[in-house]
Amino acid sequence: MAATAAVALLLLQQLWSAEAQVWDTGLPQGCPESDKCGNVNVSFPFGIRAGCSLRGFQLICDTTRNPPRLMIGNGTLQVLEISLANSTVRATDIAGAVNITNANDGGLGGNGTWGGVGDGDGSPYVVSESRNKLVVTGCNTMGILFGKNGNAIVGCSPFCSINDYWASSVTSISGDKCSGVGGCCQMPIPIGRPNYHVKLSDQVMSGQVPNAVRIAEMGWFEEHAAELLNKSLTDTSLKMPVPVVLEWAVASYPVILSGVPQYDNSSCPTNTSKSACKVLNSQCHNAAGNYRSGYVCRCQEGYEGNPYLLPNAGGCQDIDECKLSGTVCFGECINTPGSFFCQCPHGTSGNATIGDCRKSYTGLSVGIGVGSGAGLLVVALGAFFLTRKIKRRRARMLRLTFFRQNRGHLLQQLKSKENHVSWSIPASEGTSSIDESTRQYSLEEEYLLSSRYPR
Ligand SMILES: *[C@@H]1O[C@H](CO)[C@@H](O)[C@H](O)[C@H]1NC(C)=O
Ligand SMILES: *[C@@H]1O[C@H](CO)[C@@H](O)[C@H](O)[C@H]1NC(C)=O
Ligand SMILES: *[C@@H]1O[C@H](CO)[C@@H](O)[C@H](O)[C@H]1NC(C)=O
Ligand SMILES: *[C@@H]1O[C@H](CO)[C@@H](O)[C@H](O)[C@H]1NC(C)=O
Ligand SMILES: *[C@@H]1O[C@H](CO)[C@@H](O)[C@H](O)[C@H]1NC(C)=O
Ligand SMILES: *[C@@H]1O[C@H](CO)[C@@H](O)[C@H](O)[C@H]1NC(C)=O
Ligand SMILES: *[C@@H]1O[C@H](CO)[C@@H](O)[C@H](O)[C@H]1NC(C)=O
Ligand SMILES: *[C@@H]1O[C@H](CO)[C@@H](O)[C@H](O)[C@H]1NC(C)=O
Ligand SMILES: *[C@@H]1O[C@H](CO)[C@@H](O)[C@H](O)[C@H]1NC(C)=O
Repeated sequence: MAATAAVALLLLQQLWSAEAQVWDTGLPQGCPESDKCGNVNVSFPFGIRAGCSLRGFQLICDTTRNPPRLMIGNGTLQVLEISLANSTVRATDIAGAVNITNANDGGLGGNGTWGGVGDGDGSPYVVSESRNKLVVTGCNTMGILFGKNGNAIVGCSPFCSINDYWASSVTSISGDKCSGVGGCCQMPIPIGRPNYHVKLSDQVMSGQVPNAVRIAEMGWFEEHAAELLNKSLTDTSLKMPVPVVLEWAVASYPVILSGVPQYDNSSCPTNTSKSACKVLNSQCHNAAGNYRSGYVCRCQEGYEGNPYLLPNAGGCQDIDECKLSGTVCFGECINTPGSFFCQCPHGTSGNATIGDCRKSYTGLSVGIGVGSGAGLLVVALGAFFLTRKIKRRRARMLRLTFFRQNRGHLLQQLKSKENHVSWSIPASEGTSSIDESTRQYSLEEEYLLSSRYPR
C-alpha cells in the first residue's frame, strides 16, 4: 500500500518535472527554439510561425521562391543574417536604389521613400547609424534624407567636373571613389530610423553618372563603384540589391510619440519578470538612441547562448574556457561559472599562464643549499688554517726547546759544517752579552730557517 503510494508520488513528480521542462524554456508553447528559412537560422525572439516570436519580430518566409526568402514584413528587405549577439540583422534591399519619382515629367529631380521596416509603434528595426552610409550618385545634384515630419536628417551633393559632361564617363575619380567629386558623395547617417523620405534635387547639369540615392552597408559602394558610376549600366545598377545593416531592440518605441517626447533612457524593465532577458546570466542593456527607446539582452561575460531563452532551451550557458582553442594555460585549467583559473600543477607555484611554474620552496632550498655550502667551506677553510697554524706553532716551539737544550752541540755542528754562516756569528767571540744574545738569536733563526727550508 505504502509502496504503491510512493511509486505514484514518484510518477507524479516525474510528470511534473517533465512538464516543467517543456514549459520552462521562455518560448511560447509549441514553438521551436530555432527555425530555418532557406539557409538563414531564425531563433527567438524572431520567428516565422504565428505566435512564435516576440511582438514585432515575426518574419515572413517566402517559400514560393527556391531557395526560400526570409523577408521583413511585406517590404523589399530580405534577411541575410540575424545576430543575437550584436542585435543586428543584415538585410539586402532587393528593390535596389530608392525609387525616385520625378516631380514632373521633364524634371530630373524627385522624391521617394526608403523603408518598409515599419514606423513607430513597436517595429523593432532601425537603420544602424554605425554600419551604413547615405550614398548619392549623380552630377551636381543633392540627395537628402528626411524624417517623418519633413525634418532633414542628412544630405550630400556629388559634383562632376565640367569636362565630364562631354566625356563618356566621369574622369575625375581618384583613390577615394566617393569623396564628393567624380559623381559620388557619401555621409554617415546620424539618426537611425525605420524609414526615410528621400529627395533628389533637380539637376542643372546631367552628367555621365546614374542618379541614385542609396542607404548601403559601409564598404559596399567602393567594391562596386565601377558599375554603379557607369552611365551605360544605369538600368541594371539601379536594380542592384543594396545591403543594409539594421539594429533591432525589444520594446522599441519612438522617443517622440504623437508629438510628445517620451524620454525613456532606462528602457530595461524594472520588474525583471516582465523582461525578455530571462535569467541572471542574461543581462538587459539599454538600446535607446536618437530615434527610439528599447532594450536588448546579452549573455553575461563568460556565457554564451540565446539570451532570450532559458538555459535549458539554449539560453546563456557557461563557456568552458578550458576547451577553447584560444585559451592559453600551461598548468591546470579549471573552468568556473563565467570564467576559469589557470594554476600551476600540485607541488609547484608561479604563473601558469606564461608557463612559469616552479617546484614550491625551490628558491628557498637553493638559497639554503648555497648558504650552507658557503658556510661549510668557510668553516672547513678556517679549521684547516687554524690547525696548520697551531701545528706550525707547536713545531716551532718544539724546535726551539730542542735548540736551547742542545745549543752547544748544535753550535759546534754549524761552525764545523757551514762556515759560510759567519754573518750570524760575529768574529770576536764573547765581546758583550748583547752580542752573545744576538748571535744566539741569529743561530736560532738560522736553525729554524734551515729546518723550514731543508737544504
Ligand atoms: C544554423 O543552425 C545550425 C544548427 O542549429 C548550425 O549548424 C548552422 O551552423 C547555423 N547556420 C548559421 C549560418 O549560423
Ligand atoms: C502584408 O500584406 C498582407 C496582404 O496585403 C496584409 O494582410 C498584411 O497585414 C501585411 N503584413 C505586414 C506585416 O504588413
Ligand atoms: C558583430 O559586431 C562585430 C563588431 O562590430 C563585428 O565584427 C561582427 O562582424 C558582427 N557580427 C555580425 C554577425 O554582424
Ligand atoms: C517607382 O515608383 C513608381 C510610382 O510609385 C512606380 O510606378 C514604379 O513602378 C516604381 N519603379 C520601380 C522600379 O519600382
Ligand atoms: C513627392 O513629390 C510630389 C510632387 O512634388 C508630392 O506631391 C509628394 O507629396 C512628394 N512626396 C513626398 C513623400 O515628399
Ligand atoms: C561601362 O560599361 C560598359 C558596358 O559594360 C563598358 O563597355 C565600359 O567600359 C564601362 N565604362 C567604364 C568607365 O568602366
Ligand atoms: C534621461 O535623459 C534625459 C534627457 O537626456 C535626462 O534629462 C535625464 O536625466 C535622463 N535620466 C536618467 C535616469 O538618466
Ligand atoms: C512583476 O510582474 C509580475 C507579473 O506581471 C507581477 O506578478 C509582480 O507583482 C510584479 N512585481 C512587482 C514588484 O511589480
Ligand atoms: C601571469 O602572466 C600574465 C601575462 O604576463 C599576466 O597578465 C598575469 O597577470 C600574471 N598572473 C599573475 C597571477 O601574476
